[in-house]
Amino acid sequence: MAEPLIRVRTLDTPPDENTPRYWHSNDVFLSHFFNALSSTFPEGERFFIQSVRTYYHQLPAELAAQVDLFAGQEGQHSKEHDAHMDLLQAQGYTALGFLNRHMRTFLRWLPKKFPRLSLALTTAIEHVTAIFAHEILTDPDHWLGGMAPEMQNLWRWHAIEEAEHKAVAYDVYQHAVGSVWLRRAAMLDATLGFLAEICLRHSLLLIKDRQFRPGVLWRGVKLLFGRGGYLRRLAPHVAAFYRADFHPWQQDNRQLLQARRQAWGLVDAAA
Ligand SMILES: [Fe+2]
Ligand SMILES: [Fe+2]
Repeated sequence: MAEPLIRVRTLDTPPDENTPRYWHSNDVFLSHFFNALSSTFPEGERFFIQSVRTYYHQLPAELAAQVDLFAGQEGQHSKEHDAHMDLLQAQGYTALGFLNRHMRTFLRWLPKKFPRLSLALTTAIEHVTAIFAHEILTDPDHWLGGMAPEMQNLWRWHAIEEAEHKAVAYDVYQHAVGSVWLRRAAMLDATLGFLAEICLRHSLLLIKDRQFRPGVLWRGVKLLFGRGGYLRRLAPHVAAFYRADFHPWQQDNRQLLQARRQAWGLVDAAA
């Protein structure tokens, strides 16, 4: 079976001002957890594109073509999650905009100053997004079942495309850098940094709604880290990245990906 074709799609029916404030299961904790995640994507994904493109000139033609498609997909994701950010800011969650302005300055500087580290961080975070996507493809009812329909569309579309391009940054890293230890250090750094960033953003959103309360937090921690919890499910897959011979397609989910593309109307005519 050939590797899935990476295809740049636009999003049908994105979230808009009619999307409910608590759009996941009418639950403040869950909605703001996914809002916190979404708010990091625009700057994060522009950083991924910049980090990978730094090495564009030294790539073989086939990999360079994959980078073009990767950049096309991530560019669309940034645009749609930017639009979601605008909705959140209009709802009064302006701290996210403040954090993103600082994040933008830092993430535009980092690839210019530390290109190898930036590519290693991109590779690590792309793996985290790939396993997040795999979990959505595997159990969409658990992840997306309680979401408003337009938010389901957003996360389905993003998950499909993250799964499609999951090996591109890794293949560029292997071609241009290749250090196993830098890759491992980047995963450790990325995991801790990403968790801290999400925790900060999530807390600020809950504080804004006066929901930073022990009952809400305890129930939420169980949802994330308890048995079958959203983040607990990801942990075993993160560990695989530390293997010296790791490659993203060792988790071969191409059949599942194709099935979901068909079920969700995101199939490519040529796929
Ligand atoms: Fe993305
Ligand atoms: Fe990605």
